[in-house]
Amino acid sequence: MTFKVRILTLFPHAFPGPLSESLIGKGLKNNLWSLEVFNLRDFALNKHKNVDDTPYGGGPGMIIKPEVIDTGIKKFTGNSSPKIFLTPRGKPLNQKKSIELSKNKGLDLICGHYEGIDERVINFHQLEEISIGDFVLSGGETAAIVLLDSVLRLLPSILGGSKSLFEESFSDLPLLEYPQYTKPKIWKNLQVPDVLLSGNHKKIDEWRYKKRIDDTKERRPDLWGKNKKV
Ligand code: ADE
Repeated sequence: MTFKVRILTLFPHAFPGPLSESLIGKGLKNNLWSLEVFNLRDFALNKHKNVDDTPYGGGPGMIIKPEVIDTGIKKFTGNSSPKIFLTPRGKPLNQKKSIELSKNKGLDLICGHYEGIDERVINFHQLEEISIGDFVLSGGETAAIVLLDSVLRLLPSILGGSKSLFEESFSDLPLLEYPQYTKPKIWKNLQVPDVLLSGNHKKIDEWRYKKRIDDTKERRPDLWGKNKKV
């Protein structure tokens, strides 16, 4: 079945962007997932096509008007998919959430720009607010692309059956992935670790598991803390 993606944005040309490449791009061509992009400006109610206005209470930037988003949502979203608003105020995206989202029939994504959108329309339509990290982007479009990449690659028809998905960072244990090497054996006088050339799969698995633990402790003490519960 086709996974239906619908996007509401002021910048429709931002899509599909990098999602037209590689396995996800092939999936789009082969209709494993579909993409419909709607221009928020088409839902502006006045003849000047204004979509935004100044914030009540003062402050910098412009806020997208609630009725513009509301009209857009009513015209473009279905009932069968979660409605997600990308915002740095949302719950942080992680692998667990991406797996959960990939089990839907599709996703309806709303991208804000400028300083954001009127809070009332978020509550009225019960939009799920998701952030892709603790930094501020100039708009939700790049965040939507990141979210879609992480979700679409999990679809069984795209990559989902692949064993490598379960060995990568965050998928099985909250550990980073082990480092990888390929030919040549020696490059700029730097050697591939001997154990990887040994052909001893038990030893290789042990070395990789230890590397995952050591690297997680060193690079991501926050993630390592979560392993204590495992
Ligand atoms: N829009 C602007 N910054 C964002 C972020 N970090 N995550 C999601 N949407 C955003």
